Amino acid sequence: MQHVLKKIDEKRESARQGGGEKRIEAQHSKGKLTARERLDVLLDPDSFEEWDMFVEHRCSDFGMAENKVAGDGVITGYGTINGRTVFVFSQDFTVFGGSLSEAHAEKIAKVMDQAMNVGAPVIGLNDSGGARIQEGVASLAAYATIFQRNVMASGVIPQLSMIMGPCAGGAVYSPAMTDFIGMVKDSSYMFVTGPDVVKTVTHEEVTAEELGGAVTHTTRSGVADFAFENDIEALQQMRRLFDFLPLSNKDIPPTVDVGDDPNRQEMSLDTLVPQEATQSYDMKELIHKVVDAGDFFENQPDFAQNIITGFGRMEGETVGIVANQPKVLAGCLDIDSSRKAARFVRFCDCFNIPVITFVDVPGFLPGTQQELGGIIKHGSKLLFAYAEATVPKVTVITRKAYGGAYDVMSSKHLRGDVNFAWPTAEIAVMGPKGAVEILFKKELDNGPKIEAYAEEYKEKFANPLVAASRGYIDDVIMPHDTRRRICKSLRMLKNKHLENPWKKHDNIPL
Ligand code: HXC
Repeated sequence: MQHVLKKIDEKRESARQGGGEKRIEAQHSKGKLTARERLDVLLDPDSFEEWDMFVEHRCSDFGMAENKVAGDGVITGYGTINGRTVFVFSQDFTVFGGSLSEAHAEKIAKVMDQAMNVGAPVIGLNDSGGARIQEGVASLAAYATIFQRNVMASGVIPQLSMIMGPCAGGAVYSPAMTDFIGMVKDSSYMFVTGPDVVKTVTHEEVTAEELGGAVTHTTRSGVADFAFENDIEALQQMRRLFDFLPLSNKDIPPTVDVGDDPNRQEMSLDTLVPQEATQSYDMKELIHKVVDAGDFFENQPDFAQNIITGFGRMEGETVGIVANQPKVLAGCLDIDSSRKAARFVRFCDCFNIPVITFVDVPGFLPGTQQELGGIIKHGSKLLFAYAEATVPKVTVITRKAYGGAYDVMSSKHLRGDVNFAWPTAEIAVMGPKGAVEILFKKELDNGPKIEAYAEEYKEKFANPLVAASRGYIDDVIMPHDTRRRICKSLRMLKNKHLENPWKKHDNIPL
């Protein structure tokens, strides 16, 4: 017995040591925490239950039979974040570069399966060189078993990924299928193939940072959602994001009541929209002034900034917010903003999170770049997402709601539950200038008359009353009263039940 206990202790110690002191030092010297240190920051103190510490790989090629490390490069188990259960895996770069073997994959699959059984999220801390090269096709097959689970879990439990080191090959496809991806600046990379392969195949010279760094993926490709300064900030923010989310699609998000009065009025909002129609303003000011205690967790803050998405709370309950940002590209919809918002709306709809939409949109961005890039298909993603969503939907039009973009942005016609407009709202097919230029093309030289037409058009359409007279707008509200009216609407919608017709799944324009 003593002999066995000693052996168990030795194995545990070997698992804790991972790839050994030298490699741990190398990890620290890059400003990275080890896989275990990361779990300490992510989870509540003493909450972590580790599984499969004794698992080893089964490969015997390339001298691997003598090269085994207990745990095989990934730490798995479950714990809590602010008391709520979460399943985790944390890849250990000090063990074969965190690469994925058959055994390593089985450990991840085990926590994913259990997470599905109990209805709790999975957080993956990714730091992996991809498929374990020594294992050949077995490691490719192992990846596929994880991909399959990612897909089955999608929309059932939240799946969150943090990229915390160089992730290549299969190591990026699994996170790509999860709901949110964070990256750590200067130490994490995501690419299908790294700079060396790129150089060989395409003769392009590119740095790892340019090809797949945190800035690249959060500002240009949109593959990742958040970029953090370091491991600690990344893990603390992951805890914050987790607090906004339900444990599964059968759960509702936790209530975090900070005592902010639902009837709170914000008089400064009455002057938020400038008198001059072409002047911009910061939509984030409205969001911060409306949500509980100004606490807004922005999603993809550096990508497609013409639309804002993120989580806040109203009367303690999580809401998803989508808002056009007049400060960037006048708040128009384009390919990137449509994709960004569509995915966010679909996430909210999967997980019972009401969507609040603030609208100030002059239309879709015109131009060859957009048309040839497929704006029709991408724009319709957002339309599709709003139309299929059955969660409570509250919309506030602050200023422009022009053209197709009016329809798209959670309009009454897409089953918006409560649609408000501020008195400054302009709901029309297009702005007065564009409209008059089309309608009175032949009279364009006739300056003063055109101006008069524009004024007439503005008088008729550039206000919320035409839409309100048809019931497309439920009420015109004063800006200072926005929080109160939204809270009241959400309270009324609390037990909303709406089902789409039965189908295997829909066919969203991808
Ligand atoms: C086995 C690996 C490994 C791998 C790294 N290591 N990647 N071992 N399989 N895939 C080992 C190294 O041998 C080394 O071992 C240790 O991890 C650290 O690696 P370094 O190269 O020294 O570190 P660094 O310079 O930081 O570079 C990290 C890296 C690089 C960028 C990840 O190692 C790399 O390019 N690895 C290969 C990436 C790759 O092509 N993976 C396969 C993708 S294909 P020692 O013993 O020296 O510490 C794939 C298919 C899935 O994933 C398909 C699904 C669709």
